[in-house]
Order: sequence, then C-alpha cells, then structure tokens
Amino acid sequence: MIFSTAIWSRDFNHTVPAMTVSAATRIKLQSLRDQIRHHNHRYHVLDDPEIPDVEYDRLMRQLQTLEEQHPDLITSDSPTQRVGDEAITAFGTVPHKMPMLSLDNAFSEDELRNFHRRVTERLELAEGAERLRYSAEPKLDGAAVSLLYENGKLVRGATRGDGSTGEDITHNVRTIEGVPLRLISYGYPSSLEVRGEVFMPKAGFEAYNDRARAAGDKTFVNPRNAAAGSLRQLDPKLTAERPLDIYIYAVGHVEGGDLPERHSEILDQLQDWGLKTCPERSVVDGVEGCLAYYDAISARRDSLRYEIDGVVYKVDNILQQRKLGFVSRAPRWAIAHKFPAQEELTIVQGVEFQVGRTGALTPVARLEPVFVGGVTVSNATLHNIDELRRKDVRVGDTVIVRRAGDVIPEVVSVVTSRRPKKTRRIHLPKKCPVCGSVVTREEGEVAARCTAGLYCSAQRSEALKHFVSRRALDIDGLGGKMIEQLVAIDRIQTPADIFQLQHDELAEMDRMGEKSAQKLIRAIEASKTTTLARFLYALGIREVGETTAISLAAHFGNLDDIMSATEDSLLAVADVGPVVASRIHAFFAESHNRSVITRLIKSGVRWSDSEPQADADAGPLTGKTFVLTGSLSSMSRDEAKQKILALGGKVTGSVSGKTDFVVSGEKPGSKLAKAQKLQIAILTEREFDNLLNDN
Ligand code: IVH
Repeated sequence: MIFSTAIWSRDFNHTVPAMTVSAATRIKLQSLRDQIRHHNHRYHVLDDPEIPDVEYDRLMRQLQTLEEQHPDLITSDSPTQRVGDEAITAFGTVPHKMPMLSLDNAFSEDELRNFHRRVTERLELAEGAERLRYSAEPKLDGAAVSLLYENGKLVRGATRGDGSTGEDITHNVRTIEGVPLRLISYGYPSSLEVRGEVFMPKAGFEAYNDRARAAGDKTFVNPRNAAAGSLRQLDPKLTAERPLDIYIYAVGHVEGGDLPERHSEILDQLQDWGLKTCPERSVVDGVEGCLAYYDAISARRDSLRYEIDGVVYKVDNILQQRKLGFVSRAPRWAIAHKFPAQEELTIVQGVEFQVGRTGALTPVARLEPVFVGGVTVSNATLHNIDELRRKDVRVGDTVIVRRAGDVIPEVVSVVTSRRPKKTRRIHLPKKCPVCGSVVTREEGEVAARCTAGLYCSAQRSEALKHFVSRRALDIDGLGGKMIEQLVAIDRIQTPADIFQLQHDELAEMDRMGEKSAQKLIRAIEASKTTTLARFLYALGIREVGETTAISLAAHFGNLDDIMSATEDSLLAVADVGPVVASRIHAFFAESHNRSVITRLIKSGVRWSDSEPQADADAGPLTGKTFVLTGSLSSMSRDEAKQKILALGGKVTGSVSGKTDFVVSGEKPGSKLAKAQKLQIAILTEREFDNLLNDN
C-alpha cells in the first residue's frame, strides 16, 4: 500500500524503460531528497508535520538504500548526511560539551533479545552469573533538552539540535515550573549538565487545543510537536503560557563532584537535588525483566498523564556502560523498545454517515485497510460534519489515520501534497441514510441529526444496545449483531420487548443454539434486578450519563419523583444544569417513554428505593477525593468508582496534594509510592470495604 502511494515505486526501472538506469536513479534520489527536506522543514521548523513518523522513516530508508547502492551519487547536502534538526537561526547556538545522542530501536521481542545478547557477550558475562540489571524508563514523547547548572544555579538550557550543537533556549526553559532555577540540598557537582525531555501532559495538550480551536487558532497535531513548538517561541511569555513539564533521564558533562555508580541511583540523586525524574522508572533484571516492564507500561499507557512511544532500557551499572561505549551516534548500552506506530497513511475509499442512539450522524471514512496501533483498520471516524469540513477530507485522499489504545481509530489529517487530481467532496446528507427522514442541525449543535427518533431503526438499535450495555442493565450475551437482527425483523422495538423474548425464537436466530439461548434468557432474567441509577442511565436520556444518573437517584431516591419533577426541582440536583433538566423533563413528558417504563416495571425490572438525600451534594464522602490503584478482589474498579460517587466522593486518576485517600489493591502501581511520599491516607481493600459499609 505504502509504496504505491509514494511518488516512486520500487519497480520504477521496469515501468520507465526509456530512461537509463542512472538517469532514473538520479531523478529518484532527487525526489526523495526533496520530499525529505520538505518534511524536515514541516517537522523541525514549522512544528507541523504532514506525514506520520513511520512514513518519514520509510522515505529516509529508501534514500539510504539507494545511496548505499550508488555511493558515487551521495552529495554533501543529502538529508542522510545530517541527521538532526535544522538549527533555528533566531536563537543563539550552543555547542554540547558531550554530544546528545540518539537511541537504537527494537521493534520486537527478538530485536530486544538480540540487543541483550550483544550486551552480555561484550561484557563477557559468564552464563549463570548475576543477571544484568537495566534501568527501565518510559520513552517520553517530547523534546530533548540539556540543562546546565553552575554551582547549583540554572545557567543555560539548550535543545538537542543536531546532537553536537543545539539552540539556546535558556529564557524559555526558565518558564517551565518543573525546571528548578536552583538545585536544592547539597553535594551537587559545581558544573552539572543534565538531559531530559520537555513534554506537554495529555490533559494540557487537549485543553490547549480546545482553546485554540475555540479561538480559531492553529492546533498542534500531537503533544510532542506542542512541546517542541512551545520551546521555540521567540517570546518566553508565550512559552510560559503553555502547560509544559519535564523529566530528566540522564546526565551530560559533569565537573567538580561525583555521582553514584548506577544510572538508577544517579536519577535518585538528581531527584533529591530537586530535578524531576519519571515516577514510572524502575530497575529490572535481565531481558525477562525488560519484557515484563514493557507489558506493564503498555497496559498503563493510556492512563499515564504524558505521551510515550515506547520504553528505554539502559544498562544500570555505569562501569559496564563505559565498557560498552558507543556506535556512531547511539550508545551500545541502551535501546528504545518501541510500541507499534499509532499513526499510518492510507487512502479514503468512501465516506458513510452512521446514525447513533440520539440520531446524530457521524461521518465514517472507509479506508484501504492499514496496520496501525497493532490492528488492521478499515474504518475511521471523522467525528462530525464540522470536523470533516475543517479537515477537508475527500474520497481518494491520502490521510493519516490514528489508533491509540482502545480509542476508536480517527482520521487525523489529509496529506494535501498527495491529493490526486480527481477527488470527491463529501456533503451532509439531507435525508437519514437509514430511514430517509429529514436531517436537521439545531442552532449551536455540532451534530446533525435524523429527526425520526425511535422510528429510525438505526436509532432504535443503538438505543437498545445502550440499554443492555455493561454499565446499564448489563445483559450479557445480547450483542450488537443480535440486536440488529431482532430490530430488522421488528421483533423488538423498545427495551420492554427484550423481556418478552422467548427461548425458542432466540435459539433459531443466526449463530445461536439451545445452550446460548438458555444462557441469554437467564441473563435477561438476572438483569431485572438492578439499581435506580443504572435504570435511569439505561433509558438513554440525552445528556444523562452515569454520574448524572447516580446524582438523580441519590437526590430523589425513587423513580416516581424523578418522573414528575419540574425543571426547577431537577436543577437542585448536583451537576444538573438547565439543558440537562429540560432534557430529563422532556423525556418523561413523552407518553410513549412513560408507557415503556410501565411495561419494563410490569415485566419485573426492579430496584430498591432509598431515602432521598435532600442535597445530593452532601453524601458521607462529599469533598473527599479518592485515587484507586491495583486491583480489588471483591469488585471491579468501575464498581468501586460507582460506590464512591454514590456516596458523594470524587475519583481522580492521579495522586496529588488534593487526594484524600488512595485505595490500594493487589499489585498497586506507582500511585502508591506517590501517596506514601505525599503522606496521603492509604486504604487496604478491607479498610475501603469498611468505609463503604459504615456509610
Ligand atoms: S536516553 C544516551 N531516556 O529519545 C541516551 N532518551 O532516540 C540518550 N527519550 O532524543 C537518550 N525518553 O529525547 C533517553 N527515558 C529516556 C527517554 C529518551 C525519551 C528521547 C530523547 C532522545 C531520543 C533518543
């Protein structure tokens, strides 16, 4: 796929027989060099890359291979002859006393094992000798900087530049709160150069882009470019406004003092002098330890507050590092174990509009299948019509598609330089593609919607899928495909019909049998005993998510009072504003919604009512903030979260000075260490249980 989209294909010489090989090669070299220069400029100077890293690497590799085959054609200005950033003339330059190196990459377990074998062989470690220890750290996705402290005072900050010379960004790094202007404690070398990564935490990046979008300003494509771009602001006041942070991961030139003999201890020491190091770093044993660390960090990747693109392993013992030395621009004692690329290039074959539960039309790009983020992707969301227009995605375009973690794949941008002459623009359909009803767009709304409500089979299917989903009535075994089938044959129209389903008819459906039908009937029966909050959430009232459902249930205690509540009395509920109040009121005012509810209750759907809490804000855990770490044996994290919310507490993802309790289950993560450090109350599972039961 990729080579066919590149300007030159591998079999160029066959397709252009009229040219001599060397003329063709010259043109190909020229084209690759021009493309790479163009992308270097977009990336390093404009901080606005147009293609994903994997594609850039492919272009570079094609050029390298061609130059290896024709060394006589290498020119001194070829991009292969200077791998690094373009120096920005607006800043002064700084020669690095010790070069800022890059890292070799391992893309698979095999490549990592090879690295480990090379290291052990070079160190002549006897088999069975003590296993090699590595310092394992996340590979932060930001911009590398070097900071120089003279007698404990920050005197200079520099970018990596081309590795030997960087740009002077002292004024800008001084604005980053995580960069100490003075070291604390004592014992630091009189001249201490440290290296680290400046990054923009995910939350800050999102917030920054939201603001930029609202103001009609340019957004950043990813947190790494946001960090690099912010560091290169000519006006430090602008850098200061960006939410930047830093983790130090190495030392550079050191004079007038000693450092410990292990990399991990050096980082501990730097931390004690007030420099920030990554809290997720760890020391691991041998290649097995590295692999376990890789798995653990991969699993936590989405919940980390910063973006990473792999992990780095460094031989921990500094004497061993010295023995191993360097090859060209990378150390032999370290390697980056990269995650599969999350962004790839592919071609848009079509755009369809999907109709969701509330009738919202979502444009979805049908793509030439591409392997990205560890899976093959052939559909990607374009979110809404405004996004589609902003990105100007057309059928036939080459686009960047991104798949990060569990998030649905999305089209990030179009590579306009690769736009073919003939493309097809996409327009918002006037009629619903499923039921043919009119599509409208309310004032101030991003979504265009089908106006047919539950008469539209797509909306009906989605509403039913929501009703049976895990956080709603949780009917195990009633999957999306099954619901679509039942809707298609008009067997179910409202959630109440689910409870009329019979064993025999289910057993006859596609991919069902006696056993699965029996299981499903049992699951439907079991789902009847639920909670008021789940039931409210399951109804799929617009704007009523789980938290609002919990607040409503706690505030009123029973369904009747919610159904008859006025908009004013709904406004008294925690996190219910005028829009939500009017949605709830309108939902219960509809007679067909009321009759579905009556039928559901007649079918046996039940929960226990509770005493209304006059002020839902004032639960026994009101004002208390919890962080959960590790796994609990008696409930899932979700359940624990729901219980805390129901009692008025708050649950956040990371430990800070504002955290009141950290609930620590089996195999807690670094949050536990952080809680200990900040002297925050830590609850065992049993203590947490007691707290819930006492309240
Ligand atoms: S160590 C001599 N550790 O990756 C070793 N680098 O490809 C020098 N990076 O430009 C690098 N996280 O900006 C190291 N924990 C980490 C890192 C890390 C991110 C970046 C760094 C460097 C690039 C090397």
